[in-house]
Amino acid sequence: MALDTINPTNTNAWKKLELHFQTMQKATIQDLFESDPARTEKLNIQWNDFLIDYSKNIIDEETVQLLVELANEVGLKAAIADYFDGTVINKTESRAVLHTALRAVESAVVNVDGINVMPEVYEVKNKIKGFTNEVVSGIRTGYTGKPFTDIVNIGIGGSDLGPAMVVEALQFYKNHLNVHFVSNVDGDHVQEILKKLNPETTLFVIVSKTFTTQETLTNSETIKDWFLKSAKQEDVAKHFVAVSTNLEKVTAFGIDASNVFPMWDWVGGRFSLWSAVGLTVSLSIGYDNFNSLLKGANEMDEHFKTADFDKNMPVLLAMLSVWYNNFFGAESEALIPYTQYLQKFAPYLQQGTMESNGKSVGRDGKPVNYQTGTIIWGEPGTNAQHAFFQLIHQGTKLIPADFIGFVTPLYGDANHHDKLMSNFFAQTEALMHGKSATQVQKEFDLQGIIAEKAEFLLPYKIFSGNKPTNTILIQKLTPHTLGSLIALYEHKIFVQGIVWNIFSFDQWGVELGKQLANSILAEITTKEVQSHDSSTAFLLNHFVKNK
Ligand code: F6P
Repeated sequence: MALDTINPTNTNAWKKLELHFQTMQKATIQDLFESDPARTEKLNIQWNDFLIDYSKNIIDEETVQLLVELANEVGLKAAIADYFDGTVINKTESRAVLHTALRAVESAVVNVDGINVMPEVYEVKNKIKGFTNEVVSGIRTGYTGKPFTDIVNIGIGGSDLGPAMVVEALQFYKNHLNVHFVSNVDGDHVQEILKKLNPETTLFVIVSKTFTTQETLTNSETIKDWFLKSAKQEDVAKHFVAVSTNLEKVTAFGIDASNVFPMWDWVGGRFSLWSAVGLTVSLSIGYDNFNSLLKGANEMDEHFKTADFDKNMPVLLAMLSVWYNNFFGAESEALIPYTQYLQKFAPYLQQGTMESNGKSVGRDGKPVNYQTGTIIWGEPGTNAQHAFFQLIHQGTKLIPADFIGFVTPLYGDANHHDKLMSNFFAQTEALMHGKSATQVQKEFDLQGIIAEKAEFLLPYKIFSGNKPTNTILIQKLTPHTLGSLIALYEHKIFVQGIVWNIFSFDQWGVELGKQLANSILAEITTKEVQSHDSSTAFLLNHFVKNK
């Protein structure tokens, strides 16, 4: 079945939500708590090692009910079935979307064009396993017989962000291998990495689904030239492996066919870390941990497929985001993990969310008449508190935020962790309650601040509160829980794309800049600046003259 093409604003639920919004925009979360003592029990979900409390939102039970109605009216149930069963839901690229198959159990049957892909998926998984074990144990060596000490992942976008985020997030579980990432075509990036490396003991993993990406090919060529200063051409086979769908181009680069880890066109770049794109992850933390990551994701898949929408974590997070995006006019969402390990989680999800849902044409081929894709940003707490929280607390914009925290720290330091988590809880409470004029005045009185000064300072010290947050409290950061967490957000992206009636799995919007860059490259290398708008011509001439 093809996905429905329902304009969400034409649904009954949307109309009811518009009416309901008239009431809710005047409500405060504090009042909502006061009017319903059982609110917290109703508005939370506990699942495996996850607890999601979404009671600190500007919603009531009717809001949830109407959002679920909207999800039903746009055909979410059928869309989920299509998503998992290999239907061609990425219609503009004529592809199925099956990153979920990569973490499915071996006995699952997932057909693409009538052929079950699971045997191939497991063949590649076994190849990842075997390769990982050989590299980690030192059986597989470099051209001088020494075991590998360093791994370099060469890729960009989905071929970089996912592995880089997970390697950093799971560094507690890592082995002796040092892992590096080269992504930017900025030559200084690759040089800074190369200066740390010994060619004899470094393994390069070139990750490119298409093997046509300028950044990755340029970096790979530069690295190969550097490598060949010490080694011979035939040594390339021992030190370079590739993850790609494009076997022809990979072999043309000089990589041995046995060192190619295949992937498939039904794996989107930004959802590909579960495939051999995650090879660097597997090398870094070992195959068993990599497999736990996949297992955690698979459990979230099952939850998403089977839980009722009002108890379904990805569905609820997605629908709450629709509520703020389309009714309150919120433009962005903050993602604040209270662990330094998840430093790259927001940048990773920026690609996931914004490349997927940054679309303005509906599945009916017509421009949409409502807002789509949210802007995602964030940094770990408590650092974020000392950076941009001022604006969330007292600025003019409504910024719903997800707070992600863990009950148990990995090194067991209760002193630090209790301080970290007290901030975690304090912030969502502060964002909700704010601080009233009466409370501020009381503090002034206690501090003995004179009336004139108090009167001047009072408006600046007030916090209006009523800032919505979701609290995602997870038992411990493990490969398994991280897998579930990533899958949670992947499915949130999917649900939003369905509601907004857009195609979430293509990315035509990145093409124009690439095309123009190629033609400008030809001009700046030949120093012949062609006709451009006057600003671009002015800049190009300055660059060409002074380079
Ligand atoms: O930025 C566009 C994009 O196509 C992403 O979707 C993708 O993750 C990235 O480029 C890298 O592509 P490839 O893996 O083919 O090199």
